[in-house]
Amino acid sequence: MRWLSACCLPAALTFTGLICQVVCLETVTGIYGETLEIPCNKGAIKAEDILLTKWKYDKGEGVPGDLLVKNGLNVSVSATDDYKGRVSMADNFSLLLSDATLSDQRKFTCMLVLRNDLTEHPVNVLIHKSPADLEINDKAEELEIAKSTKLGTCVAKDSNPAADIIWLKNNKPLVADGKGISIQSSVAVDPVTRLSTTTSTLVYSAEKGDAEALFTCSTRHVAGSELVSPPVTFNITYSTENIDLKIIATEPLVEGADVTLKCAADGNPAPTSFFFHLKENLVKVENADTYTIVNVSRDTTGEYKCSLIDDPTMEASKEITVNYLDINLTPSGTIIRNVGEPLPVNLQIDSSGVPKVSWMKDQVKLDKEPSLTNVAYSHAGVYECDVTMGLLSQKAAFELVVQGSPVVKQLSQELSENGLHQILICKAEGFPKPTVTWSINGTLLSESPFINGKIAQTIAVVPAANLTVSCSVANEFGSDTSAINVSSLNWEVKVNKQDQSDNDQTKLVVGVVVGLLVAIAVIGLAYWVYTKKSKQGSWKTGERENGSSEEEKKLEEKVEENSQKAEV
Ligand SMILES: *[C@@H]1O[C@H](CO)[C@@H](O)[C@H](O)[C@H]1NC(C)=O
Ligand SMILES: *[C@@H]1O[C@H](CO)[C@@H](O)[C@H](O)[C@H]1NC(C)=O
Ligand SMILES: *[C@@H]1O[C@H](CO)[C@@H](O)[C@H](O)[C@H]1NC(C)=O
Ligand SMILES: *[C@@H]1O[C@H](CO)[C@@H](O)[C@H](O)[C@H]1NC(C)=O
Ligand SMILES: *[C@@H]1O[C@H](CO)[C@@H](O)[C@H](O)[C@H]1NC(C)=O
Ligand SMILES: *[C@@H]1O[C@H](CO)[C@@H](O)[C@H](O)[C@H]1NC(C)=O
Ligand SMILES: *[C@@H]1O[C@H](CO)[C@@H](O)[C@H](O)[C@H]1NC(C)=O
Repeated sequence: MRWLSACCLPAALTFTGLICQVVCLETVTGIYGETLEIPCNKGAIKAEDILLTKWKYDKGEGVPGDLLVKNGLNVSVSATDDYKGRVSMADNFSLLLSDATLSDQRKFTCMLVLRNDLTEHPVNVLIHKSPADLEINDKAEELEIAKSTKLGTCVAKDSNPAADIIWLKNNKPLVADGKGISIQSSVAVDPVTRLSTTTSTLVYSAEKGDAEALFTCSTRHVAGSELVSPPVTFNITYSTENIDLKIIATEPLVEGADVTLKCAADGNPAPTSFFFHLKENLVKVENADTYTIVNVSRDTTGEYKCSLIDDPTMEASKEITVNYLDINLTPSGTIIRNVGEPLPVNLQIDSSGVPKVSWMKDQVKLDKEPSLTNVAYSHAGVYECDVTMGLLSQKAAFELVVQGSPVVKQLSQELSENGLHQILICKAEGFPKPTVTWSINGTLLSESPFINGKIAQTIAVVPAANLTVSCSVANEFGSDTSAINVSSLNWEVKVNKQDQSDNDQTKLVVGVVVGLLVAIAVIGLAYWVYTKKSKQGSWKTGERENGSSEEEKKLEEKVEENSQKAEV
């Protein structure tokens, strides 16, 4: 029983002899197709003690088969079967077995005949073979998201023992989870070579991120290093989940512009053809995602949709609003109305939104729409309305001319700066332009432009006495007159300001002063006559005044031939 000490495992030493024989039989592993060395008693042999060495094998069911014998230096092959050409013996008594196959997986026994003993050293032989290569077959054409698809089959061909296949995505193992990942493996044994071919099928439910994923399968075999299949990738397909309709148009969208509808849908492959729902019409657009409506009008306003041709329930819609702003103002152009007549103003607005209206009269903002139920000269002017809605705006205008008999609105006087003249201002309204006449010959200083039926005329006069001056205005519709009492100039002021006057005025003032002295003399004479007469009877006041006025007038006419002259 000494040979039983050839146990392979140190732990086996504690086993009983029988168990050790079964469990601890020395095992040698060879590589398929290569030459296998089966050592005799693990090489622990003293060659000088050995008379004869014999290798035999177990044909099965305990029937032994001879392989070769070494007797001294002479080695003879005694095998007659397949082993005949494959066995040889190394110098150290190891059995060398070439072209190892799986049929060599059996028990080989080395028998040593010593001088006084005979030992047998059985060795169990295992032949390993790693798979020839790994490849993914039956690759899916594409993976659809969330749909379990047979991604492919990984085949590990001709190995022993059978290979375990692991599937990897981006080098991370995929583990069957009963939901998205399921893996089915099977092993087929070749009846001739008895090599195993492992087939593993991955059924996979793709996710969106899998578009770039690398799928591989690998084995780590007892007989070799890790084998990895060439990686495969897949087109990840998914049906449209989102569809969107975009409106491409200038802002604001107004009549006459073009509007482009653009339909965008996701999915892989993304849809390339769409239905555009143009209100009642359905338009199919192929190999494009846009549809352009040219020259839109207010009737274009409405709801627009696009949808998928193969799934009409996938649709998107958008509202298109064409902005428009039309206004119609009556009256228009230039309108002539008689004073007191009504002028109805009507502004019609046709717009797509709420407009803002503002009014101006002669560039001045009005706080409301003009109401011209009873036109007056003050109403004359250019009326403008400005209607805005968002970025759109429209303007319209009319000009109102109020015609009628002129009216003096104001007649006023003021002293000129140098105190030498009375300035008379006559302001009048009327249309057409009234003529302005004065009851006095004055120097025309200015006349305003005739605007909106208004006119103002300014004259300068040098009244020698208090007098009443009238301003008359007249046109084809009638006339008006207004009077003002103009007081004579303050002589002292005139004298004080004498040096500022021009030559003519100096002459004039000298003349007036002479005239005044003459007048005083006349008054003195008149008073002397009066007192003399009053002793005789009575004079009427009017006669007295008339008389003195006539005297004055004559004197004035002598000195004031220039222009200023009083009319009584
Ligand atoms: C026996 O000899 C061969 C070379 O002939 C050698 O490769 C092998 O390691 C030896 N075996 C033992 C157990 O010494
Ligand atoms: C070896 O054995 C063969 C027969 O098996 C024999 O013919 C031969 O002479 C032997 N040679 C030696 C050197 O013993
Ligand atoms: C993905 O699809 C495109 C076109 O549809 C094709 O050219 C490409 O070869 C596909 N890729 C794979 C990995 O199937
Ligand atoms: C646009 O449409 C209007 C009517 O809606 C038409 O009068 C006009 O001529 C069109 N303009 C162009 C450029 O087609
Ligand atoms: C005004 O002067 C002119 C001549 O200068 C004269 O003919 C006319 O009568 C005068 N008018 C009055 C109202 O004095
Ligand atoms: C003119 O009228 C003023 C008052 O309005 C009076 O004081 C003055 O005496 C009058 N002058 C003449 C010359 O009548
Ligand atoms: C001018 O004076 C007279 C008498 O002094 C008077 O009756 C008249 O009302 C006055 N006119 C104006 C316009 O003031």
